[in-house]
Amino acid sequence: MADDLRLVDVESKHVDDVYRVRSRSFGLLGAGDREEWLSNMQGFIDDRRIVGVVDGDELIASARIWDFEQWWGGRKVRMAGIAGVVVAPEYRGRGVGSKLMRGVLARSVEQGYPLSGLYPATTVIYRHLGYEFAGGRFRYTFPAAELRSLGGKEVSVRRAGPDDAKRFLEIVGQLHAEARISGPLVWPEAKVAEWLGEENSFCYLADDGFVVYGWEGGKLRVEELVAGSEATARALWSVVGSGSSISTDVEAYMSPDDPAHLLVDKEADKQPTIEHWMLRVLDAPAAIAARGFAPGASLEVDLELDDSELAGNSGRWHLSVSDGVGSLTPSNGTGETLRLGSRGLTALYAGTPLATVRRAGLAWGGAAADDGAIETAFAGATSYMLDYF
Ligand SMILES: CC(C)(COP(=O)(O)OP(=O)(O)OC[C@H]1O[C@@H](n2cnc3c(N)ncnc32)[C@H](O)[C@@H]1OP(=O)(O)O)[C@@H](O)C(=O)NCCC(=O)NCCS
Repeated sequence: MADDLRLVDVESKHVDDVYRVRSRSFGLLGAGDREEWLSNMQGFIDDRRIVGVVDGDELIASARIWDFEQWWGGRKVRMAGIAGVVVAPEYRGRGVGSKLMRGVLARSVEQGYPLSGLYPATTVIYRHLGYEFAGGRFRYTFPAAELRSLGGKEVSVRRAGPDDAKRFLEIVGQLHAEARISGPLVWPEAKVAEWLGEENSFCYLADDGFVVYGWEGGKLRVEELVAGSEATARALWSVVGSGSSISTDVEAYMSPDDPAHLLVDKEADKQPTIEHWMLRVLDAPAAIAARGFAPGASLEVDLELDDSELAGNSGRWHLSVSDGVGSLTPSNGTGETLRLGSRGLTALYAGTPLATVRRAGLAWGGAAADDGAIETAFAGATSYMLDYF
């Protein structure tokens, strides 16, 4: 790699270069999308959340950092969402992407994010830097007539709109905390109001649940449905299914552990579509302190972390979990203990069974007798996301 390639903060003067490299990587944007892209860009520049690589004066690679929060074990954790990772074609395959991503990691740590997440178009570059698969964006297809017949007619459901954004967030907050959900992004109230106000967002609200759905490619598609009781789940799904005379199938973004899978008689599509996303623990003590753990789990164990990219995570730590919260503190302990690299720690954090992590060669050492307790602490429903970024 040429020595004169430098990491920089992307500035307004680089925007045309970013667009040129982006077009060569992902295709051209239509006029409306380009305008939105440009206005988003200014926010990234102002917040120093877009990192670039220059060759002399010319920008030849860039990546953006979205300021997100994500549910982990029913608690909200700040997450740096990495997107728009692009290298000019003539510079690819020479380590520029890796240099760029190291800059992105450093900036994300500097801005205090305990976690970073991304949807990978290719995994190798991200795995080399410590990212690992952590969850999916799952889309199922149900026969609309099955949903229509779920009942729930005794539940009162009303049409909702932008003014209900606060209530939507309260319901999500309560239900995700109770169910110790992992994965979905948390949106600010203004963004939720914007979404509920879109022409293609059909929103219905009950006391303990809501649904937002719309048309996509001639079919009805559920973007989000949350229900705190069986009756409300039946009521909201049957509102969507009432469109069965026009839309034979209903597509839905949802968790593989959503109660709807246990309510609908006919199985959902046997082949759901899954877009996998990756995670990286950036600040191990902060990430452990921020997430929720299984309330009954109790754990006192030493871990040895070896993070070749972020040295602050490396070393011997004591992991303590009780009453649903955890802490990771430096340990002076000696002797054999569970050892993990960044990918192993991230997989464990995301609820991957420890046996799987061990058999993938991402964890080793320690006493097998501790594995059950460690696994129980991190376990929970499958991590999922509803949004792509
Ligand atoms: C993906 C991309 C950012 C990688 O940039 P790059 O400068 O070529 O990456 P590097 O040279 O630093 O390569 C790092 C590692 O990833 C691997 N890699 C890079 N691109 C790859 C690809 N398309 N498929 C498989 N592996 C790939 C390299 O072989 C290298 O691994 P190695 O050290 O084991 O050989 C670049 O190819 C690109 O801009 N692609 C188009 C847009 C895109 O897909 N962006 C990613 C969105 S998530």
